[in-house]
Amino acid sequence: MNLSIELFGIRFKNPVWVASGTFGYGLEAMEIYDISKLGAVVTKGISLRPREGNEPPRIVETPCGMLNSIGLQNPGVEGFLEKIYPKIKDVDTHFIANIFGETEEEYVEVCKALEEAEKVVAYELNVSCPNVKKGGIAFGHDPVTLGGLVEKVRSSVKKPVLVKLSPNVTDITEFAKVCVDSGADGLVLINTLLGMRINLRRERPDLSTKVGGLSGPAILPIAVRMVWEVYERFGGQVPIIGVGGITTYEDALEHVYAGASAVQIGTANFYDPYAPLKVIEGIERFMKERNFKDFRQLIGRSHRLDIKT
Ligand code: FUM
Repeated sequence: MNLSIELFGIRFKNPVWVASGTFGYGLEAMEIYDISKLGAVVTKGISLRPREGNEPPRIVETPCGMLNSIGLQNPGVEGFLEKIYPKIKDVDTHFIANIFGETEEEYVEVCKALEEAEKVVAYELNVSCPNVKKGGIAFGHDPVTLGGLVEKVRSSVKKPVLVKLSPNVTDITEFAKVCVDSGADGLVLINTLLGMRINLRRERPDLSTKVGGLSGPAILPIAVRMVWEVYERFGGQVPIIGVGGITTYEDALEHVYAGASAVQIGTANFYDPYAPLKVIEGIERFMKERNFKDFRQLIGRSHRLDIKT
């Protein structure tokens, strides 16, 4: 049985990755399990300069999920290379750097600074963070700006360029099209949905930023629907990485059957750090029970079956 998969010229040992912002750089998880079992680790967003993020409170629980407004706190690309990279460079799995910039040039500069870091095999452009005033969503919500950014980064770097899309748009397939036309090597969907909670004891919004990004099981059906729509339009042209609401292997397989070639586990890491390993084991078991020999048989499978039967 083959769980490995080649995407954008890179072989991943399995299709289960961990999502940006829910796993740091892997250092904490390393203390409790062997993270080389993961298909890949997507890092917390890395920017050109260090960022402290937003004022607290910046996380609040919601029914079946959570809202965050961290604001892309990170040590900056130099801090990452000096302090973190030496600790991950010998881990036997791939790292994908989630990249954030306030301008096109910053995205390019951060990627270029990582070109020689061998353990980083690809870039995931964060054009969908809802928690910052400049960059992020400003790129992901304007098709012209988004196309320009993807083209610019794609033509400036050697490693594959993935784009993490925002679900806070009318038609995500239009944004996927812009990315495909501009040379993206892969699409990651979805980032968090805009949300808000009011704290009745304090009589004001829970988050210092008022609005934040909703993630967790609550968003699974929305993510699956968007993966389905993008696969229907671009299936076969570009790999889709599904993220949003995955806690169990069944959730992961919903993304895969809808069209994802790999999945990312996000919020589940906060309440069950072993969730990604359980998802890998669950997919293996499922394939054995149903006699699937290769994981690729599952990708987009529901599109090929007669809906009425
Ligand atoms: O605020 C944050 O750091 C979240 C980033 C994201 O959703 O991409």
